[in-house]
Amino acid sequence: MDTIGKRARIIILLGPPGAGKGTQAKAIMQRYGIPQISTGDMLREAVKNRTPLGLAAEPIMKSGGYVSDDIINGLVEDRTLQADCVHGFVLDGYPRTVEQAKSLNQLLEKQRRPMPTVVNLQVEPEGMIRRISGRRTCRQCGRIYNIYFSPSQRDPLCDTCGGELFSRPDDDESIVRERLRQYEKQTQPLIQFYRELGQLEGLDGDAAPETVTQRVLEIFEGRKEQHAGS
Ligand code: AP5
Repeated sequence: MDTIGKRARIIILLGPPGAGKGTQAKAIMQRYGIPQISTGDMLREAVKNRTPLGLAAEPIMKSGGYVSDDIINGLVEDRTLQADCVHGFVLDGYPRTVEQAKSLNQLLEKQRRPMPTVVNLQVEPEGMIRRISGRRTCRQCGRIYNIYFSPSQRDPLCDTCGGELFSRPDDDESIVRERLRQYEKQTQPLIQFYRELGQLEGLDGDAAPETVTQRVLEIFEGRKEQHAGS
């Protein structure tokens, strides 16, 4: 992975529940041809398949808590070793704690990859509940819709593949409140962690999704130029 690894694209999307991490990760994946690594999606898949991980994670996710750092770090490490990650990946929902961020930095170093570009999607709290309560996700292809802002023309089916659209069980209002609380307590400190490392870029996540994507790409390309010139 040596020389290729050093040129790999590593992008982290930070932000509270509903900030648009999944939406942006899918757009970046298409633009760069690198995979999205979403720990939330991986856990939901494990729950669906009733694997030991899924059985352990299900009650934690249903309560809005966080799955343990060790489990999540191992899951991500295994995923990054797969062939499609050779040119990089976009991380959505990971890291989520300072411990996870430290583990990720060690992993990137071990794999001789560049340090990540970390984009923090900043959104106004009032809009977050509508984003989450209006979210619909395709069971088949994972495309994300919103009944208020970007509905499927074929609701309750997906415009892209005709799959069934569903609401996530953890999008219930009381669970969302707990997810936000966990975010404030455990994920907010990451912002300072990455700021101190000089890796953090903030951006207005309330702009239109296409504008946010454009901005993320500009930030990433700008940082790449900066590193190439230094
Ligand atoms: P996860 O699935 O990662 O959930 P989350 O972080 O709470 O984030 P969401 O998926 O809710 O939101 P998003 O930012 O991706 O927004 P989206 O693009 O969908 O994690 C779920 C659970 O798994 C956790 O609670 C935890 O239990 C566990 N877990 C996962 N990772 C873990 C980890 N690392 N450690 C420990 N536990 C972990 O957009 C939301 C809506 O807004 C959509 O309807 C979309 O269409 C709309 N939208 C998006 N962008 C815009 C825009 N610019 N304008 C208007 N609407 C928009």
